[in-house]
Amino acid sequence: MSGLTGKTYNIITFGCQMNEHDSETMAGLLQREGCFPAADRAEADIVIINTCSVRENADKRFFGTLGQLKKQKALRPGFIACVCGCMMQQEHMVTAVKQQYPWVDIVFGTHNIDDLPGMLEELLVNRRKQAGAESGAGLSGETTPLLSGRGYTLAKHEIRSAKDSRVIRLMDDRPVMPEGLPAKRLFRHKAFVNIMYGCNNFCSYCIVPYTRGREKSRRPEDILREVRNLTANGVREVTLLGQNVNSYRGGDWNFADLIHALDEIPGLDRIRFMTSHPKDLSDRLIASFAQCASLCHYIHLPVQAGSSRTLERMNRRYTREKYLDLVHRLRDAVPDITISTDIIVGFPGETEEDFEETLSLAEEVRYDSAFTFLYSKRKGTPAAEFPDQISEEDKHRRFDRLVACMNAISEEKNAAYAGRVEQVLVDGVSKKDSRVLNGRTDGFKLVDFPGDPSLIGKIVPVRITEGKTFSLRGALEP
Ligand code: SAH
Ligand code: SF4
Ligand code: F3S
Repeated sequence: MSGLTGKTYNIITFGCQMNEHDSETMAGLLQREGCFPAADRAEADIVIINTCSVRENADKRFFGTLGQLKKQKALRPGFIACVCGCMMQQEHMVTAVKQQYPWVDIVFGTHNIDDLPGMLEELLVNRRKQAGAESGAGLSGETTPLLSGRGYTLAKHEIRSAKDSRVIRLMDDRPVMPEGLPAKRLFRHKAFVNIMYGCNNFCSYCIVPYTRGREKSRRPEDILREVRNLTANGVREVTLLGQNVNSYRGGDWNFADLIHALDEIPGLDRIRFMTSHPKDLSDRLIASFAQCASLCHYIHLPVQAGSSRTLERMNRRYTREKYLDLVHRLRDAVPDITISTDIIVGFPGETEEDFEETLSLAEEVRYDSAFTFLYSKRKGTPAAEFPDQISEEDKHRRFDRLVACMNAISEEKNAAYAGRVEQVLVDGVSKKDSRVLNGRTDGFKLVDFPGDPSLIGKIVPVRITEGKTFSLRGALEP
């Protein structure tokens, strides 16, 4: 029995699916140690904040949450506060937490997740030693650094005082990520599967290559084994995760090879992937949509901007024309494919004409849905130093115009679904009405329809009755 047995935990997750999946892994690791989820965050023995640093508002929300945690720490003796995730891969953030929030017990980065139980045990040992020292039971004056000696804490962040029980574990990068970690999944019937970690693209606005390190692909056999295990445990849909799945290289396998092999797994009904970089979306992958029965007809293809001039300064390595050509080729090969995107407005130097090109591209592609972001300056990225930063007022004005345009397109596209029958994988019961279920179509559209919770995890035919901006409504087909 470990010193962690019986402790309750709560994990607060910011950011993308990578972080969501990391949180599932941390929950799996804690459960393996005999911990269980707290009914209420305020009652938890261990709280972990898994941070994101992709935009500035993520920073603000993090510091707000830390403030709440401080109160909890003051009220509950023995409480353990942990902070991890992408923000902790940034030097100045670790320094800020260490100095301004010294009551945070454990700080670790995106490459140290597997060591969570080890860090918690170490903290408990440190606390016991500290209590012993304070009561005069020996150990006082001990000067050994309170590190496990695994050699992957960045030297500048080592905690060297025996009076300080904090544990800090950070690595700049990790060439090979650990395999075989448990995960406590949010859903029984669908799962995230990492196929690669890190990013080599260095888009000029983006912090991710600095927080997740260089690109590394998992071995195909490890991925296939994981997916077979998942399907044996009732999973019907997997979402393959990577910052740019198109550059997957597992030995001599590319991403399309992996999809074809996964498509052979019995019981796996749906394969999705996130995210695809337009610069290297291959013809073979486009062909796979028609060839692989379980590959969903949906692609998230972030364009970021509609003007080739802006794209070049973003270091995206494709032009407006190349992107539009890709969309045409996708639609020629897979006429019913749904397409979503990410767009940044107010990138440094973006002129009104550049912005108009983003609007016209959106009109031309007619996306099913889009995530639109205000450009956010990220310390350490090239674009943060670019001249001609756009004023907040201009950014917001452009943002509002783009959102209105995108929403109108989504609404029109969704309205056209009325009368169609869609296969829906049922995810759960609506939060607003317990008689209503929700799920996703093959094309990733959210559908609400009245039904019995016994259908959760099943794929059922639903006749769409109404299309709204962000979802569809329907009724079960007999
Ligand atoms: N690897 C993925 C995206 C990861 S970040 C890809 O390349 O598509 C998710 C989205 O956040 C990006 O697509 C981009 O639109 C947005 N984003 C990243 N950095 C940003 C910044 N500094 N300001 C505003 N939005 C940003
Ligand atoms: Fe960021 Fe670009 Fe890498 Fe995506 S591809 S994570 S936007 S650097
Ligand atoms: Fe945020 Fe890290 Fe994802 S910065 S968007 S959580 S990879």
